[in-house]
Amino acid sequence: MTANLDPIQEAKQKAALEAVKHVKDGFIVGLGSGSTAAFAIEALGERIKRENLRIMGIPTSYQAFLLAVKCGIPITTLDEHPEINVTIDGADQVTPELNLIKGMGAAMAREKIVAAASKLNIIIADEQKKVKLLGENNQVVPIEVLPFAISLVERKIAAVGGKPTVREGKGKLGPVITDNGNAILDTYFGEIQNPAELEVKVKMIPGVVETGFFVGLTDIVYVGTSGAVEKIEKLRK
Ligand code: A5P
Repeated sequence: MTANLDPIQEAKQKAALEAVKHVKDGFIVGLGSGSTAAFAIEALGERIKRENLRIMGIPTSYQAFLLAVKCGIPITTLDEHPEINVTIDGADQVTPELNLIKGMGAAMAREKIVAAASKLNIIIADEQKKVKLLGENNQVVPIEVLPFAISLVERKIAAVGGKPTVREGKGKLGPVITDNGNAILDTYFGEIQNPAELEVKVKMIPGVVETGFFVGLTDIVYVGTSGAVEKIEKLRK
């Protein structure tokens, strides 16, 4: 464990350490993006050294790739290993039904591909990410868009009730460009009653590459708190 973390960072790390316990020798592991997933990547690197674990990681972003290499996690690709044993990733919002908003790190397109290829999807988060409805607290939904299509997508999103804003870069003038060469429209929808329905409407718009809605993909959520780590599991129908 890293010493002297603030309480939020400590909560993220605690959740990550629980999630990493699911990883077994020989596993292909989807490596999530963001500050919470980074704790899981570091913990996996430590397990590889300590237990001589033979695992391979599929990173969901350039950030995750660089950190995985630094932590000594061998990298593979979906082409070489189309089936992933477990993916550990963060989220921006999590509902009791285990639906998510992701993408504040602009990595949701690859994150969703990796999640869809994964037999088990574990989300790690701190308590601030828990909500009743997606879109609470003015949370926007990131939408990845081909740059050529930005103006069309903006108009079509407005027609389904969204207020899109092109995400601007920090440390660089102009829009954020994703790992896939696209732009991000951070879109305000207000509180979202039916994310599955809205996701389909948005994905139907030509030029939309991916949305930050993750509906029905998650199996387990670990929420780090100041006390114990809370485990929320998908209710099997
Ligand atoms: C990356 O695009 C996102 O989906 C992240 O998983 C999400 O933003 C959570 O990031 P933090 O763990 O840094 O809050």
